[in-house]
Formats: sequence, structure tokens, C-alpha cells
Amino acid sequence: MSTKDVSSNMVFQATDVDAAARARLKGQKPVAIWLTGLSGAGKSTIANALEVALAGRGRHTYLLDGDNVRMGLCRDLGFSDADREENIRRIAELGRLFVDAGLIVITAFISPFRADREMARKIIGDGAFIEVFVDTPLAECERRDPKGLYGKARAGLIRNFTGIDSVYEPPLAADLRIDTLNDDLETCMERILAYLDQRGMVGPGATEA
Ligand SMILES: Nc1ncnc2c1ncn2[C@@H]1O[C@H](COP(=O)(O)OP(=O)(O)OP(=O)(O)O)[C@@H](O)[C@H]1O
Ligand SMILES: [Mg+2]
Repeated sequence: MSTKDVSSNMVFQATDVDAAARARLKGQKPVAIWLTGLSGAGKSTIANALEVALAGRGRHTYLLDGDNVRMGLCRDLGFSDADREENIRRIAELGRLFVDAGLIVITAFISPFRADREMARKIIGDGAFIEVFVDTPLAECERRDPKGLYGKARAGLIRNFTGIDSVYEPPLAADLRIDTLNDDLETCMERILAYLDQRGMVGPGATEA
């Protein structure tokens, strides 16, 4: 039986405790904050600082980070275009479930392709998806090279490395653009928090820290 045959026999099971009820219990507006940018742009660093700040405000969060997911849920996937797409699809489905569970989800994945990020927006839902472009030029990412990966990619030891021999498609209309070249970590993180506050995204009590 093909996957198509299986899914045509499925009926979505509704539950009495729904997304709104779970969000109400947590006293927050669930959302996915989707960070995208080159390797070394600062996604994980900013995601971590943001989660610390949100936890400090009593928000319930979950951080999904590239390598961690690739070591578990997505360990069967590589870095071909098709595998990158499947990686993002699974993360988006996971993000959708966590948002449904009432959490503020922060994701830190290069997510290089526009179409894949749009797929993630569709899966999670437009109203709960905030695309944040961590905009750091390739030259600066290469200078930082926090994991030593650019050095390896330039030496031909890693194939399909984003920015070197695999494309990065910058967002054309991100909800928010973060400039890590001119703003320090604290400022970058504060800008995201301010954006969430402005859109009423972190719920009642959010400004009490
Ligand atoms: N304003 C800034 N915001 C975030 N990181 C910064 C900033 N300025 C300098 N950095 C440095 O840039 C590096 C970013 O590394 P980080 O691991 O966060 O990148 P990443 O985008 O998660 O990369 P990868 O996709 O490989 O996981 C860190 O060493 C961090 O200290
Ligand atoms: Mg990272």
C-alpha cells in the first residue's frame, strides 16, 4: 500500500482540550520564531539568549537547533537539496505540534531555501510564524567560523556547504531582519523581544520580568 493510499484512509481526530485551551493554561500566545541565516550568522547564539530572556519572563519555550535535531529525529538525512527539504518539513511539523501544545518555539536552522521556509510557514500557520533573518555577510561568517566548518569546506572536506557550494536564498520579506555586524548580541535579542511585544505575541504578564 502506498503512502497516498494510507493517508486517504485517515481522519483527523479532534480533541476536547484544544490549542486555545492549552495556550490559555500557559497564559501565553504560542508562536514559532524561525531564525534563518548562514552558518556562523548567530542563529544559535541569539536563539539561546532569547530563550533565556523569555524563560526569565516566565514564558514556556522550546528551542529546536540544527545539529541537535540532526543527531536525533533527522539523523537519517544528509545535505542534498531533497534531504534539506525533508529536514525542514520535519522541523516544521514538530514546530506545529509544539505551538499546538502552547509553547513559544524558537528554531535555529540555516533553512537556506525560500520555498522550504514558505512550506514551514504553511505547516505552522501564518499567524504563528515569524521569520527572522539573521543577516550576517558570508565574509563575516567565514571570519568567525565558530565550528571550523568554512575552513573544511574551502579545503574540499565538506560538500554542499551553504554559502560555498550550496546556495543560500535570503528572505525577500522577512518579518524581522537582524544585523549582527552592527548590533551586539544583547541588541539583536532585544530587537526580537521588542517585536514580539509589539505584536502582542508573548502574552499577558510578558513585560513583568
Ligand atoms: N551580534 C551577534 N549575534 C550573535 N552572534 C554573534 C554576534 N556577534 C558575534 N557573534 C558570534 O558569532 C558566532 C555565531 O555562531 P552560532 O553558532 O550562533 O551561528 P549559527 O548561525 O548557529 O551557525 P550554524 O548554522 O553553523 O549552527 C558566535 O561565535 C557568536 O559569538
Ligand atoms: Mg547553530
